[in-house]
Amino acid sequence: MKSLYDFPDIYDQILCHAPDVVIQEVNSIVAILQRHGIGSGSVLELACGTCAHAVELAKRGFRCSGIDQSPAMLDGARTKAGAAGVSLDLRRGNIIDFEWAEPLDAAMFMSETFPLITGYDELVSHFASVRRAVRPGGLYIVDIDAHRHGVGDKYEVWGKRTVPVQDGEVEVWHESFPGDWIQGTSRMRMHCRIKLGEHLQETEDEWVIRADSPWNLRVLVESLGGWHVEGFYSWRDLSPVSEDDRHCYMVLNRTEAQPSAAAEARLAVGLR
Ligand SMILES: C[S@@+](CC[C@H](N)C(=O)[O-])C[C@H]1O[C@@H](n2cnc3c(N)ncnc32)[C@H](O)[C@@H]1O
Repeated sequence: MKSLYDFPDIYDQILCHAPDVVIQEVNSIVAILQRHGIGSGSVLELACGTCAHAVELAKRGFRCSGIDQSPAMLDGARTKAGAAGVSLDLRRGNIIDFEWAEPLDAAMFMSETFPLITGYDELVSHFASVRRAVRPGGLYIVDIDAHRHGVGDKYEVWGKRTVPVQDGEVEVWHESFPGDWIQGTSRMRMHCRIKLGEHLQETEDEWVIRADSPWNLRVLVESLGGWHVEGFYSWRDLSPVSEDDRHCYMVLNRTEAQPSAAAEARLAVGLR
């Protein structure tokens, strides 16, 4: 079965944040970067997909790059960058464990995709990878999901809708399954029936999603070491995160101090 990520145009029309939202999100990213003296530096978008945010940032003079595991989504990013008249350094890779030789001023992880990293070893490896890529004093900005429903405990079908797209329409629906309370993860599947003229394509994507809160993220990051948790802010205006934010930005500052011995030990016996 195909994935929605095999159809970057359709992804953009049904799942990507709307262009006006992307502009507002990037306004806040630029404000965070500027208050750290990063006026036009190098920014890597993690799990960039079609790079909506990196393209918008590149239009404002930043040197932007993106990493994603899907070649089709990277092709979509290339097309989007070309149409916007900007160039991006796009690389295929796994955000759990990657190398980026050129030191970056900042990394960003947008659209609440971060909860897709579920295992503790994967999180340790991910933060170590980003830390190797970002220069001391640089930033890591993570758009975090603020779902408050906890871990799903039943099967249900939800969110059935038909979305008009260029040259056709897409039927979308979701299935949720009982999650894993011990791991703090929910499981869901997204289905699309893409009808373009006479052509019908179906996609199915299954995602395991970790439940996060600012508090448990702070504990996680501080226990890893190597990052200072600057704070959690509204994506709209950078005010302190409030109850009604569906997602918000966690801003981390990469310290000179080495990661904790415990995190280093996990890495040594774990993924690397
Ligand atoms: C929901 S999309 C978000 C794309 C983009 N951040 C945005 O704002 O539209 C999730 C993306 O994460 C990518 N992805 C998921 N797991 C990944 C991994 N382990 N390494 C690299 N990319 C990953 C998928 O290929 C997909 O493009």
